[in-house]
This record gives sequence, C-alpha cells and structure tokens, in this order.
Amino acid sequence: MTPRVALVGANGHGRWHRRRIAELAAGGLVSLVALADVQPIDPEPDVAAFTDHRALLATARPDVVVICTPPHTHLPIALDALAAGCDLLLEKPPVTSSAAHETLLAALRSTGRSCQVGFQALGSVAWQRFRDSLSPAVTGLSAVASWQRDDAYYARSPWAGRRIVGGRPVVDGALVNPLAHAVMQALAAGTAAGAGRPRQLEVERYRVRPIDVEDTAFARITFESGLPLMVAVTLAGEDFIAGEIEARGPDGRALLEYPTDRLALPGAGLADVPGRTDLLSDLLRHRAEGTPLLVPLEATADFTAVLEALTLPEAPEPHLVEAKVEGANRTIPGINALLRQAAESLALPSELDVPWAVKPCRRRLPVT
Ligand SMILES: NC(=O)c1ccc[n+]([C@@H]2O[C@H](COP(=O)([O-])OP(=O)(O)OC[C@H]3O[C@@H](n4cnc5c(N)ncnc54)[C@H](O)[C@@H]3O)[C@@H](O)[C@H]2O)c1
Repeated sequence: MTPRVALVGANGHGRWHRRRIAELAAGGLVSLVALADVQPIDPEPDVAAFTDHRALLATARPDVVVICTPPHTHLPIALDALAAGCDLLLEKPPVTSSAAHETLLAALRSTGRSCQVGFQALGSVAWQRFRDSLSPAVTGLSAVASWQRDDAYYARSPWAGRRIVGGRPVVDGALVNPLAHAVMQALAAGTAAGAGRPRQLEVERYRVRPIDVEDTAFARITFESGLPLMVAVTLAGEDFIAGEIEARGPDGRALLEYPTDRLALPGAGLADVPGRTDLLSDLLRHRAEGTPLLVPLEATADFTAVLEALTLPEAPEPHLVEAKVEGANRTIPGINALLRQAAESLALPSELDVPWAVKPCRRRLPVT
C-alpha cells in the first residue's frame, strides 16, 4: 500500500518538504494525506489541513509524519506521532537536550518505529567519498561557513534568535540551527576518522544583534583520540562561504563543500560529485526493505550533547561585537579572514589576539 504521509509545520521550510512530497506523490511513491500548522497555510493546500497535529494524527492516520516545526516543539509532536504508530522524518535540530534525546530514543524502542533526522547533506555521494577517505591518520578537522542573515530573518518568527520560548529551550544559535549542518557533518567526520566521541568543547560565541544567541561562533571540539575540530561560522559574514569541512593528514587535505556536494580529495582539485539520496525516500526504503537509515536519531547523540553544552543556562551570553551596518545587513569587518585563520591554526580568536575576543567557555562533554 502507498505510504500515507503527513507534514506538521507546513510554512517556512515546510514548503520545501511539500514540494519534495509532491514529487514523490507524482511518482506514486507516497500519498500526501494532510498538513498541520498553527498558522494559515500558504499556499493553500489541496489536502486536509489541521491546526492541531493530534487531530491530524487521529483523523488522517498517516504512516509517516514529517515534522518541520520550530525546534522547541519537536519532542511532543514526535512522541504523539510515534504513539499513533507513525515513522518520522524529524527536522534538525531534532531535540534541544540530551534528556529529550533519550526520551525520544526510548519511545522509538518501545513503539518499534523509526526516526530519520533532517541532516540532508549526510545523504550525498560527496559525503560518502569524503567519509571513506578519512582514517585515524587525520590530524585536524575544521568546518567553516560565512553567511549573511538580515533583519527580516530575525523578524520572521517569534523563535528566531531566541534561547527560550514559552519556558522551553529553542536555542536558535548559528551553531545549532542555521549552521547545524556544519557541526553535524564535522562531528560525523570525526567519528568516520575513528576519533571516538567528542569529549571537550571550548567555545567563544559572539553576536552583532540584540538576540539571545550567537550569530558568530568558534568552537574547538576535541575527540576521545585527541583529534581537534575547529568549527568557525558566522551569519554576519563578508564573502559567502557555503560550508566547508576540511580534514588534514599525512597525505594532504580533503575538502568537502557539503551544501553543494563539491569535493577535493588529497592531491585533487575541487569537483562536483553529483548524487544525493533524499531522506524521505531513504526512510520509505527503510520501511519497505529494512535498509539502515542514513541519519537515525542515534547518529545525532553527539550533536545534541554539543548543543546542550553550548546552551546550558550558566553558559555565558554571546558577546556583542561591533559590526558594519549596511541596510538590513550587519557584517563583522575582517571576519572571513579570521574564520580561515581559526580553521587553519585550530586556535580560538582569544588565542589569536583578536581585540574583541572574550575568553572561551570550556566544558567536558558527557560520557554516555
Ligand atoms: N534541513 C534544513 O536544511 C532546514 C532548513 C531550514 C529549517 N530547518 C528546520 O525546520 C524547522 C522549521 O524551521 P522554519 O525555518 O521553517 O521555521 P518557521 O518558524 O519559519 O516555520 C515553522 C512552521 O511551523 C508552524 N508551527 C509552529 N508550531 C507548530 C505546532 N505546534 N504545530 C504545527 N505547526 C506549528 C509555524 O506556524 C510555521 O508555519 C526547524 O527545526 C528548522 O531548524 C531545516
């Protein structure tokens, strides 16, 4: 029988899921049975629409639910959908604490259902080749991204740029939301290099706006093996850097541009590597044939541990940095060179004598 798919959170990024579900439906692979959103759905759907996901679950009885609501709402919706017997495609960040991760894992085990997490770049052939090139000989990893997010981005939803909404952590910082893929991909690279679990986090978080969270961050993560990873990212960037993961070792450097699937293995130039398995198709195959999921919830445990360490209530507020204001955009002068320098040296801004740098926050990551 054709799997019945529903989408909860139909505006925003949910529109991308609507297009993808429509493509699969056109090929007869799924049928879209319902959408839910607490706001009016735009564009207006031609299937049943609900304002409450519980009413959707009870009435439309989907087999698979795509959850694309704000992060702080994921857990209750996911638990309700599992209790209704559904499998999940859950957007990133899947949950906002390790306790929530454990709660969701326990629900998956007790219901026997599956949960794929929306880190779509882990479905690319470029990622597979990059990952397969890694070994314990890797001596350093870095992730760099330089984006711009303007005033409209922060005005678009009540949770944008906030740490807590309605008493629940939403943690919309650059590291855990817009640039979560950089963190997840780099952590997965450490695992693929045989470095074990991430054990220490040293982080400097900065912001150029009146927000609760960071728009610019430098996080050095050290794995069990001692392998260091530097994540250097900003939403107040100069030239655009889509997102790069680099691994260096005795044979040279491997570079993956994960949003665009471009790859340079040691000694070779950057080239397009076509091919991505989309996460919903992968979940459907898993349901039909029992193939392993590309991004099961379990694979995101380290990402959530890092997210939690970044966002503990006692973590210092992100430090306000002076920015150049141009219209709706704010840019930190010299930021791109600093991102590159941090990635190259694996050093934090405070260790590079950057005048506006503050001392890092250091945390041990939990051993689970
Ligand atoms: N994988 C990716 O590349 C990617 C890209 C963008 C966003 N996302 C993720 O998708 C999720 C949504 O992000 P967004 O930018 O679209 O957010 P958004 O705020 O723009 O849209 C979320 C939608 O969910 C609706 N909503 C909120 N609470 C709801 C509830 N309880 N029940 C039903 N609908 C509800 C809102 O009304 C809104 O229409 C987030 O987890 C975000 O991190 C992932």
